[in-house]
Amino acid sequence: MKTNKLMPLFALLAMILLAAFTLVKPTTILKTADEKNNTLISADAKSIIDQSCVGCHNAESKNDKGKTKLMFESLDTLSTARLIAKLEAIHEVVNEGSMPPAKFLEFKPEAALSDAQKTALLKWADESIESRLKKN
Ligand code: HEC
Repeated sequence: MKTNKLMPLFALLAMILLAAFTLVKPTTILKTADEKNNTLISADAKSIIDQSCVGCHNAESKNDKGKTKLMFESLDTLSTARLIAKLEAIHEVVNEGSMPPAKFLEFKPEAALSDAQKTALLKWADESIESRLKKN
């Protein structure tokens, strides 16, 4: 008799726990994605990318050509092979000075990369390629 009386209580407790897990889960997933991104794009590289690149290379960008070629926020969702190809492309455009595009720099000269910023971006791309190669 005693256990029967407790049954509804247990059921209620189970429901509360289930609800709590369902509510907590999405934020945990978001946090993990964010942490992953943080480890892929170093703080150094991020501030440069935010200043000079992300405006055209993000999912909401009006620059269709730029965003189909590269979206910084989803780099970490790419397969290793694709990620490395993108990092190599980043290395190339930074090295040859073709990004940000010259036309864009005409009206936003402050987005131009300094030599120190170029070096930092190249270093980030190289190290990220190396660490991905080691993992596989
Ligand atoms: C004004 C917008 C704009 C800015 C700012 C910009 N890009 Fe681009 N980017 C583009 C466009 C447009 C393309 C496509 C060019 C083409 O296909 O001819 C592109 C292409 C690229 C590609 C080639 C991707 C591939 O897979 O072929 C890389 C890499 C790249 N950009 C990196 C950068 C980096 C790094 C920065 C910052 C230093 C930057 N971009 C800033 C517009 C921009």
